[in-house]
Amino acid sequence: MAIIYHKNKDCNILAKQLAAKIGNILVEQVNKNNKASIAFSGGSTPKKMLQYLAEINNIAWEKIDITLVDERFVDESSNRSNAKMLKENLLNNIANKTNFFPLYSEGKKLDEEEIIKINQSLKTIKQPFDIIILGMGLDGHTASFFPNEKELQKAFTTEKMALALKSSDGEDRISLSLKTILSAKNLFLHIEGIKKQEILKEALKKGNIEQMPIRAILYQQKRKLNIFICES
Ligand code: 6PG
Repeated sequence: MAIIYHKNKDCNILAKQLAAKIGNILVEQVNKNNKASIAFSGGSTPKKMLQYLAEINNIAWEKIDITLVDERFVDESSNRSNAKMLKENLLNNIANKTNFFPLYSEGKKLDEEEIIKINQSLKTIKQPFDIIILGMGLDGHTASFFPNEKELQKAFTTEKMALALKSSDGEDRISLSLKTILSAKNLFLHIEGIKKQEILKEALKKGNIEQMPIRAILYQQKRKLNIFICES
């Protein structure tokens, strides 16, 4: 499937452009269906984009289901929490009510029962997602699909919306599955910096998907992929 590149040397301008694009899709989908749904990645790259998104004032956030692509299984008080990052940069800055579906609940253990509960909660979100925004690590991971993770094949084949995975340093993660990610009507990959541009070039060369899981997104033929990329 096609990869569409949106490039700007200036990461601040690119973040604003991505926020505008996302805002337009959300407004359009709410106008059409009176509902929309979006899943944001965590980490640090999304922060500027989320702040710009919060400034767009014609988005009916009360009609939009919001969740995360993946979550480190930590309390929201932790600076590792993607929910904390999302609230600080977007949700807390939106006046009207938002429908946020967290992937982590306070004090919960990432066991089978909890995974079932998370999947049940995700199933109440408007499907397929109108928008999913991915990031990429310097090791070529995306979502919580880390290189050579033993459950990667499960992440790539499960029919479930989300599953438990581990990061390369053994951190418990919950992540949307590849099937769910590729069901999104609008799929974005937002990456910043020269180093990540080099990693992307490497990933685009034919190679082992388990060694660079971002390849599962780059090589797929199901969805057009919008790559928003900047230098600094
Ligand atoms: C996470 C993210 C992850 C992220 C990449 C890039 O929980 O870590 O969802 O997939 O997109 O790690 O993170 P940075 O934007 O911080 O480089």
